[in-house]
Amino acid sequence: VKRITTHQLQTMKQRGEKISMLTAYDFSMAQIFDSAGIDVLLVGDSASNVMAGHETTLPITLDQMIYHAQSVVRGIKRSFVVVDMPFGSYQGNSSEALRSAIRIMKESGGHGIKLEGGSEIKDSVIRILSAGIPVMGHLGLTPQSIYKFGTYNVRAKEEAEANKLVEDALLLQELGCFAIVLEKIPSSLAKRVAKTLSIPIIGIGAGPHVDGQVLVAHDMLGINKEFKPRFLRTYADLHTIMTDAVTNYIADVKNRDFPNEKEAY
Ligand code: KIV
Ligand code: NA
Repeated sequence: VKRITTHQLQTMKQRGEKISMLTAYDFSMAQIFDSAGIDVLLVGDSASNVMAGHETTLPITLDQMIYHAQSVVRGIKRSFVVVDMPFGSYQGNSSEALRSAIRIMKESGGHGIKLEGGSEIKDSVIRILSAGIPVMGHLGLTPQSIYKFGTYNVRAKEEAEANKLVEDALLLQELGCFAIVLEKIPSSLAKRVAKTLSIPIIGIGAGPHVDGQVLVAHDMLGINKEFKPRFLRTYADLHTIMTDAVTNYIADVKNRDFPNEKEAY
């Protein structure tokens, strides 16, 4: 099996072939997604929410991200694995950013990193790229800044914020980022960015006029019934499937149906 490369992702954009991306945090799910043919797996810091149960992405640590990334890398043969740099591991100090990125690459075996922001993190992006580490940008709704914005509402609806986003996207491309995630922004703005830039633009809640799509695996698999934003399409109802399975198991244990003779030695 040939592994997906940043070069191939670039070619896919040029050919108008859409890029598929999903989050993964563990070995078993990574194996399933990779076998199904996903192009990019993101070890997202959304692990803080869906794996650890935190309210925001802020608490997850670099060590915890590396643990998730190691597990994912062991499960894949073909996908390109991007690892989120967690809050506090890269902002405001480019030496620490480089150190954190090198730890992720060395200890997890991931193929690239992602960080949130534009001009504010310019020095960190330059430094990480100078070490030969592929960098994916992330603009629009950036969950690590949730306490600055106050809500998870759609971003960059105003002209000024939209222009800043386009400038940041151009800057990230100029610095050498291989792709950018745009989260929860108007479809028309995402289209403008995807048309203006030559690197792949991956959207989540950014409409159809971008080069690829990403979703949080637990959300698209319907594991969490409560989370139902407009941009989300659920492809399975794992919450119901898993609840039914566990309910049946409990009943079988209680009424002595499990295990039967064939299931015993
Ligand atoms: O952590 C994450 O899941 C992400 C995606 C939403 C892009 O950053
Ligand atoms: Na993230």
